[in-house]
Amino acid sequence: MSRASFRTLGQAGALLALGLGGCSGPVNNQQGHMPAQPVAFSHAVHAGQYELDCQYCHVGAEQSRHAGVPSASVCMNCHTQVKKDSPEIQKVAAAVAANAPIQWVRVHRLPDHAFFNHASHVTAGLKCQTCHGAVEQMVRVEQVEPMTMGWCLDCHRKTGAQGLTAPIASAPRKGELLALMSGEPLPEPSKLPRTLQPPSDCSSCHR
Ligand code: HEC
Ligand code: HEC
Ligand code: HEC
Ligand code: HEC
Ligand code: HEC
Repeated sequence: MSRASFRTLGQAGALLALGLGGCSGPVNNQQGHMPAQPVAFSHAVHAGQYELDCQYCHVGAEQSRHAGVPSASVCMNCHTQVKKDSPEIQKVAAAVAANAPIQWVRVHRLPDHAFFNHASHVTAGLKCQTCHGAVEQMVRVEQVEPMTMGWCLDCHRKTGAQGLTAPIASAPRKGELLALMSGEPLPEPSKLPRTLQPPSDCSSCHR
């Protein structure tokens, strides 16, 4: 069965399960969720056409649990000049002036009982697109993957079986930086790259 027809069936099933064609699907599978946003921000323009790096705006992705969404002041790095007369940009300027965050609507959200950390996945070498699809082509962000427990485990089992290794971080490690600053010889680099071992025990994802 093609992916498209599989998804259509899944959505029809979800609507049946709810009894009526309500606007929200089941909590644990929001595949296809594509809410309207308070400002018409387009990833296709910013990350696609202008090739801005994902982490220019989602700074937390490599270091913390949440990738995070940028504050309105980040937008004004450019929009004090670019398109400043656009009504959409004036909403952003108003948010900055009022010191009130833009109320972006969450697209992806796991239930509270499940634990997910961006940093451990991004530093393992996974691309954002593996889990979020071609965001750089999206005018409005949509959840393309199911993000169910089966989806998580499927990748964990496959990656574990492949014996892949984590990429070596390009930034100097802590010890190297200290040695460079103090003029001491560099520490021995770790000889063996770390083999990826994604967990499949319950307590790793349900803490
Ligand atoms: C200029 C800043 C900017 C850049 C660059 C950018 N984003 Fe975003 N991103 C945002 C903003 C603002 C939102 C919240 C509004 C929305 O959903 O469109 C967002 C939302 C998202 C979401 C949905 C978050 C949720 O609520 O679940 C994902 C996923 C995402 N971005 C991934 C990416 C990826 C992948 C890239 C690079 C290909 C990228 N972004 C580049 C600003 C940016
Ligand atoms: C690095 C510079 C840069 C940053 C940062 C940036 N933008 Fe933009 N933005 C642009 C450019 C360039 C365009 C395209 C302008 C054009 O079409 O001539 C644009 C277009 C837009 C438009 C369409 C405006 C219109 O009326 O056509 C909106 C809305 C927008 N940006 C919102 C945002 C928001 C919200 C953020 C912060 C999350 C943001 N931008 C961050 C450069 C930026
Ligand atoms: C292994 C899969 C995976 C990868 C890789 C991944 N994400 Fe996510 N992302 C998720 C999941 C799952 C959520 C929902 C997390 C939650 O609800 O706790 C999410 C949520 C988000 C959100 C919503 C708010 C937040 O910070 O939790 C943004 C923004 C986002 N991702 C951006 C990115 C960007 C940018 C990258 C690449 C630098 C990336 N993601 C890489 C799976 C992934
Ligand atoms: C790799 C991460 C991961 C592992 C390992 C994992 N889970 Fe989950 N689990 C999730 C996520 C994400 C969800 C929420 C999405 C969903 O319901 O599919 C979830 C949901 C659940 C739910 C709720 C289902 C529902 O219908 O609401 C139960 C119960 C559960 N897991 C039990 C377990 C048990 C028992 C184990 C060990 C055998 C386990 N999980 C291992 C990620 C994981
Ligand atoms: C595309 C592949 C892929 C997907 C999808 C994926 N993971 Fe992972 N996961 C990995 C890899 C690779 C690692 C890193 C293993 C390592 O560093 O040894 C990892 C590590 C983890 C860890 C251990 C590190 C930590 O942060 O504590 C947890 C927990 C985890 N994943 C939860 C999840 C959950 C929950 C989901 C689904 C919402 C998910 N993962 C989806 C590939 C994936």
